Amino acid sequence: MSDQATDAVQMLISQHREMEAMLKQVKESEDSQRKSLFAAAADKLTMHIKSEEEIFYPAVHRARTEDDLLESLEEHLSLKRLLADLLDMDPTDKAFEAKFKVLKEQAEHHHEEEEEKLFPAVLKMIDEEQRKTLGGQMLALQEELAMQSKPRVEVKNETASAAPLP
Ligand SMILES: [Fe+2]
Ligand SMILES: [Fe+2]
Repeated sequence: MSDQATDAVQMLISQHREMEAMLKQVKESEDSQRKSLFAAAADKLTMHIKSEEEIFYPAVHRARTEDDLLESLEEHLSLKRLLADLLDMDPTDKAFEAKFKVLKEQAEHHHEEEEEKLFPAVLKMIDEEQRKTLGGQMLALQEELAMQSKPRVEVKNETASAAPLP
């Protein structure tokens, strides 16, 4: 079983590319398609962020990763606030388009920061077996969240402050 498990870092990186492709699709969509494409992208972002905040970040919290993790949690908060706003907006509206552009840019920036700073540090800190265990735990949580009808609605309750770093 553990042989088939995915390394947490590889898993998160491939999800970054997947989410970026989904956001690009939303941007290029016809008005009639945008609402459902955005809902799917928002679900994916919510599940990814939640698995990082509940499993990955606490597991890789050390003195030398703490600053990057705290900055990442603030970036998550900003993404959640944008998502919460966008979920209440009309996807065919000009204002949606403008705010969505900010979300897309911030998501791309956040992914770049994780991949350039946090993940290289994690690769040095924890071995492959531990990373696979974490990957399995995150996937299980994401699958559990995916069973809910709309994982994205959860972000509306998480816009007050950044998640804590245990
Ligand atoms: Fe990420
Ligand atoms: Fe993240």
